[in-house]
Amino acid sequence: MIQKKLIVFRVWCVTFMYIRIFQEHIIRRGRWCIRRVYSWFFNLLMQSYWNEIEDCKVKIFDKLSEKAEKVLEIGIGTGPNMRYYAARNSNVTLYGLDPNPKMKKYARKSATKAGLKPKNFRFKQGVGEAIPLKDNSVDAVVATLVLCSVSDVTQTLKEIKRVLRQGGVFIFLEHVAAKDGSFFKRLQKLLDPLQQRLADGCHLARNTRECILEAGFSGGVEVQTFSMYSFPWMTRPHIYGLAYN
Ligand SMILES: C[S@@+](CC[C@H](N)C(=O)[O-])C[C@H]1O[C@@H](n2cnc3c(N)ncnc32)[C@H](O)[C@@H]1O
Repeated sequence: MIQKKLIVFRVWCVTFMYIRIFQEHIIRRGRWCIRRVYSWFFNLLMQSYWNEIEDCKVKIFDKLSEKAEKVLEIGIGTGPNMRYYAARNSNVTLYGLDPNPKMKKYARKSATKAGLKPKNFRFKQGVGEAIPLKDNSVDAVVATLVLCSVSDVTQTLKEIKRVLRQGGVFIFLEHVAAKDGSFFKRLQKLLDPLQQRLADGCHLARNTRECILEAGFSGGVEVQTFSMYSFPWMTRPHIYGLAYN
């Protein structure tokens, strides 16, 4: 009798174990499918934004002098701007700064694909608020869609000025806060906490234009404001331009 009960118990245990394994497999497979669908959908939605932003990037990178031999890009991410550097000067030394160490692999791949010599791309893990480079050590600093994510814009701009040589240029492209009092600004403020959670600390309602104008770039600032009409709509107001040290 006891033996019979033991056999039934064992069969139960084994069956239960298989059910659990099967369950976990289904859940893992389900999560994988959801992630695939999500990234496909997100890329599809974002494609027109990337196309629109490309036109502005062409305009600002056009101003990057061929003589710029040492360039720092803060918040380099996966390296979507690599081709602009390689096209202007194949001997440029590019420092790519990002707090996320996982970006190194992707940025390096983009650099190689764009034709930058491997020895000329140096990834530096760090933040814009404390740039790990010496004073007056670079000819240009680039930041595209980064000042929305740093924790301290004023300190980052101070650091950018510190590492830029005299006469050097800061090239930027950012999404910014809508006009004060507008419906859009209210919407941005409402969605800001959610955006910060979902988009790795990205702020929707920053007055980045004013911060750059007040940062004390002694060579002057050229800044253009424009609207993006593609998704994501709440990041509609953008600025791009140059600030000279
Ligand atoms: C929206 S992505 C932009 C990436 C790329 N620059 C582009 O144009 O697509 C923001 C990047 O800024 C980086 N980042 C976040 N906080 C930062 C900080 N305090 N200093 C420098 N980079 C930062 C993130 O890791 C991320 O790679």
